[in-house]
Amino acid sequence: MKVFSLFRRRTGQDGGRSGPVRIGAAEQSLVRVTLNGQVREAHCEPRMLLSDFLRHALGATGTHVGCEHGVCGACTVQVDGVAMRSCLMLAVQADGRSVDTVEGLAQGESLSDLQAAFHRHHSLQCGFCTAGILMSCDDYLRRYPQPDEQALREMLSGHLCRCTGYSPIVAAVLEVAAARAAADGDNKAGRNEE
Ligand code: FES
Ligand code: FES
Repeated sequence: MKVFSLFRRRTGQDGGRSGPVRIGAAEQSLVRVTLNGQVREAHCEPRMLLSDFLRHALGATGTHVGCEHGVCGACTVQVDGVAMRSCLMLAVQADGRSVDTVEGLAQGESLSDLQAAFHRHHSLQCGFCTAGILMSCDDYLRRYPQPDEQALREMLSGHLCRCTGYSPIVAAVLEVAAARAAADGDNKAGRNEE
């Protein structure tokens, strides 16, 4: 049976880099990430998926795992602020990077505006898909603060929700976009009056 292995850079005695070496499947790698603002680390096998690392090594079980091959979107987290499928990334690839999961959206007991809008619009039923959808929408709203509904629906087509339907999700995201735009306008008006 072929032994799973990864390549990593070999560091020479002079500290220089001298080409890749193979990492055996049983070898444990120390992976350190900044998870929701806190530095966390654990050892894992080099073949461990980021999704499994978050759930099983760091106990961040808010991230769900559905298909494990990049189709359903349930496992979506943000790596360095960008939404990514954590089932398509190895934990070792996240070493030294910032990872945000659904657990980091709320501030203490206060839901984020996006989470609160999902609650108001009944944008979830079983909730299995919700963590991933929230992480994608959070990233999407940063990049497209005033999204067009069609484009938003296309983005959401990367997530499978089997029980809620997408209309309440779209309504929640558009409501948040409108509220943020209004608050931004108020802030600018306030600054102009000063
Ligand atoms: S579990 Fe990652 S996309 Fe489905
Ligand atoms: S809320 Fe159940 S799968 Fe989306």
